[in-house]
Amino acid sequence: MANSQKFDIAVLGAGPGGYVAAIKGAQMGKKVALIEKHHLGGTCLNVGCIPSKALLSNAHIFQAIKGAERYGIEVGEVSFDYGKMHTRKEQVVHKLRTSLEGLIRSNGIVIVRGKAQFVAPKQLKVVGEDNTWIHAEKIIIATGSEPIDIPAFPCDHRDILDSTSALDLKELPRSIAIIGGGYIGCEFASLFAAFGVKVFLIEALPAIVQMQGKEISAALTHAFEKRGIEIKSNVSVESIEKRADGLTMHLGDGEALYVEKALVSVGRRLNVRGLGLEKVGIAEGANGVIEVNEKMETQVPGIYAIGDITAIAMLAHVASHQGIVAASNASGLDTTIHYHAIPSVIFTHPEIASVGLTPEEAQRQELNFSIETFPFQALGKAVASGDTEGFTQILSETGTGRIVGAHAVGNEASTLIAEMTLAIHNELTLECIVDTIHAHPTRSEAWLEAAFLCQGAPLHFPPRKGNSG
Ligand code: FAD
Ligand code: NAI
Repeated sequence: MANSQKFDIAVLGAGPGGYVAAIKGAQMGKKVALIEKHHLGGTCLNVGCIPSKALLSNAHIFQAIKGAERYGIEVGEVSFDYGKMHTRKEQVVHKLRTSLEGLIRSNGIVIVRGKAQFVAPKQLKVVGEDNTWIHAEKIIIATGSEPIDIPAFPCDHRDILDSTSALDLKELPRSIAIIGGGYIGCEFASLFAAFGVKVFLIEALPAIVQMQGKEISAALTHAFEKRGIEIKSNVSVESIEKRADGLTMHLGDGEALYVEKALVSVGRRLNVRGLGLEKVGIAEGANGVIEVNEKMETQVPGIYAIGDITAIAMLAHVASHQGIVAASNASGLDTTIHYHAIPSVIFTHPEIASVGLTPEEAQRQELNFSIETFPFQALGKAVASGDTEGFTQILSETGTGRIVGAHAVGNEASTLIAEMTLAIHNELTLECIVDTIHAHPTRSEAWLEAAFLCQGAPLHFPPRKGNSG
């Protein structure tokens, strides 16, 4: 080992959890090391959120241009070059990675390049481009996750892909079977289908995106089927046979599917292997989870864990938020994390966005609630922009009117959900929403309308019997 360095805080992993924690620690005046074995930005920036959304934005533009004639715009025959889209995606990632490195350095954080492992509670060994020992008073574990393989047919990254190799395709297959109808499976299904790839979406559970609740799952299923995506639920893939010209997928119900490629998106494995947790007395939970308290501290004082590795919600914004809490506490503050308003967005076409409780969760909690749905078909802005697919939906507690859940399906759902996140985080009621002036004509008025509906006094919706005054 070349040398040994001392820090106040060492962060393991430079994903959206780790690098944000490092910045927060540096802002609090601490001497911080950020240790990364691969690329700065982690899964999110390099092989997750950013590259997938760069590709999805191509799909969005392509679809919009194809539909331009409806708006009186003649564009002739539209074609695309997926190779160029791949190049653009690479440029986006490279640009953001370069600015991230500058940002980290501008905060005075020391970047250490290599794989870190614990040798003692405050002692790390780093092996890689930099070979060094690190002593740190506080340590934050933010090592993230990786795609899971299915042992019966491991990814070869040529015919059987995972999300990382799927993002690296330079040309599109004619057909693909996507195994797993969760976040990743649905986003890729949307992407590929937009460019005319025949997509089969195979889900072991009775429905895709089941965690979003029955109604949202049904809305996405309907939208996908309209776009030609073939959903096969309640079935798993037993085996995959490789042929000269593609793959034969043998399904549990006896069906055989012939496709050019397969994508496995059945969840992620946590990066705990080789961390040396046993050297510091941190016991791994089920599937390698590192358990933390509401201060983001593990069972060992002074060692924190954040992001995917905590398996609380595998989302970049949750990792970053946890990073701020962990770094604040590691710097001497006393901060507590709250999870009751975590927004989630599935960037499909149409977009799906949720925050707070689903109706099923509200029922399980035996909450007395009402639920109302306002369709974009009844919204001036949606009609004017020619895109009326989807709705907004609010769940509110009966009596108090407190908003406990909100869901949006459709164009701009990803942006719309911010209003309801703020509402739920601050325990606002329906009254607060209807009391707030919403700009016209905007899609955000759909929250106002849904809130009015919850109060039984819809504005741009026919009154219900008994509510007509
Ligand atoms: P990661 O981002 O996984 O970063 C961990 C880092 O630690 C990695 O860079 C890794 O190399 C490094 N590391 C691991 N072990 C060591 C070690 N021993 N020493 C040094 N370094 C180490 N989330 C969203 O919120 N929105 C999205 O739109 C979204 N899209 C996604 C799309 C895809 C295809 C995928 C796969 C994920 C997506 N996610 C999205 C999830 C999001 O990427 C993760 O939740 C997020 O990256 C987790 O952040 P993290 O900091 O915990 O870990
Ligand atoms: P996931 O947990 O979202 O979905 C996996 C799906 O695969 C589930 O529906 C599950 O029932 C199904 N499944 C499991 N085993 C199966 C099998 N053998 N055959 C068929 N189906 C099977 O996991 P995914 O999609 O891999 O994504 C991982 C995580 O990354 C997500 O949980 C999410 O937190 C994050 N992510 C977030 C995104 C966003 O915020 N927009 C986008 C992509 C990923």
